[in-house]
Amino acid sequence: NSDLFDQAVDILARNDKGTYTVPTHGLYPFQWNWDSALSAIGLNYINEPRAWTEIETLFSHQWEDGMVPHIIFHQEDDGYFPGPEVWQTGRPVPTSGITQPPVAAFALRRLFNRAKDKEAARTRAAALLPKIAAWHDWFFANRDPEQTGLVAIIHPWESGRDNSIDWDDAFSRVPTEGVGAFTRRDTLHTDPAHRPTQEQYQRYIWLVERFRSLGWDNSKLHEASPFRVVDPGFNAILLRSCADLADMADDLGETALAETSRARVAKGIAALEAHWSDKYKQYLCYDRAIGALIDSPSIGGLLPVFAPIPEERATAIAARLETLGNRVKYLVPSHDPDVEDFDGRRYWRGPAWLIVNYMIADGLARDGYDQVAARVVSDSVELIRIGGFAEYFDPMNGAPCGGPHFTWTAAMVMEFLK
Ligand code: DGY
Repeated sequence: NSDLFDQAVDILARNDKGTYTVPTHGLYPFQWNWDSALSAIGLNYINEPRAWTEIETLFSHQWEDGMVPHIIFHQEDDGYFPGPEVWQTGRPVPTSGITQPPVAAFALRRLFNRAKDKEAARTRAAALLPKIAAWHDWFFANRDPEQTGLVAIIHPWESGRDNSIDWDDAFSRVPTEGVGAFTRRDTLHTDPAHRPTQEQYQRYIWLVERFRSLGWDNSKLHEASPFRVVDPGFNAILLRSCADLADMADDLGETALAETSRARVAKGIAALEAHWSDKYKQYLCYDRAIGALIDSPSIGGLLPVFAPIPEERATAIAARLETLGNRVKYLVPSHDPDVEDFDGRRYWRGPAWLIVNYMIADGLARDGYDQVAARVVSDSVELIRIGGFAEYFDPMNGAPCGGPHFTWTAAMVMEFLK
């Protein structure tokens, strides 16, 4: 195990650009939002101040309206598409114009609780808290205009689960006509069979062009997007982060912020009940554009165990994971393998991802489902042993997929081994 830990340390060093890390060289040569937040938890084992810097760098590129973009293009690199010339967001340091799962407050609380230098941690947390709060405010103002308690994503890239089967129907309403010619770069770095399809890329870019034509004005984008989906996994990350932000706010004497944040958790968890499926014994996504649940059992519906959901739901999810564990060799598949479109190698249509395993295991352990939590952790470590620090893995046979030497995979391994 110490060997695996040392390998993880080497990967973090290899992908460290000084004030931020790249997810992996080649395929993802910039700073990604949720990659950075989760990777900071690994960096903390090596260099505590550097871990805080990772999150601070991310927030130093926050937009005036509160959004924290999903990519910060710190330096030029033509090995990635779509680059700044496609996004055209007009930022001093170019960024994308959409966001990603808001896991920063969760990660920050982990750094805060583990800090050896408590004094520095309090100062740095106090400076970050209002910025994270502004991001959360941005979500509830712009992505939940009817104040349902849950936010929508307006682009599949925001979910982090780019090509999930969950999006297929909703995404088919996004046109492909009128999208200019483009050349993908992702398929130069990795096996095209592990990546989204060309047609999906056309729709991804159609949405980017639509939002760009509206000047990236977030007060307009939610209504203007034909793709508006409420993902229980995304919302669980937001709600867990709201709960963690509230705890830090209490520690730092910010009682008003703690109260607002806790109220959001209560409202959001109550609203999630409408996403529960008795058929699948898990949560489902909701297509806000047409007002219907999406009949698609993915990891997005299991991830809520990361948030403080009712005990009865957590028990059902723990049982569901056990059932899935009999169907795959390695938990947790990003989609139910009994669904026809399941594809164990294609990105988020089946593969197991260690970051999701980490969040699920964390929630299960917190709620006392130790046995299934232990299975998720031991499967994760086994995947690394067999396949190295890949981006994701085929849950059926453990084959490593996507990019190699992955920063957040390494960070999660450090947590699993500790
Ligand atoms: C990609 O380029 O594949 C990313 O997931 C989008 O952020």
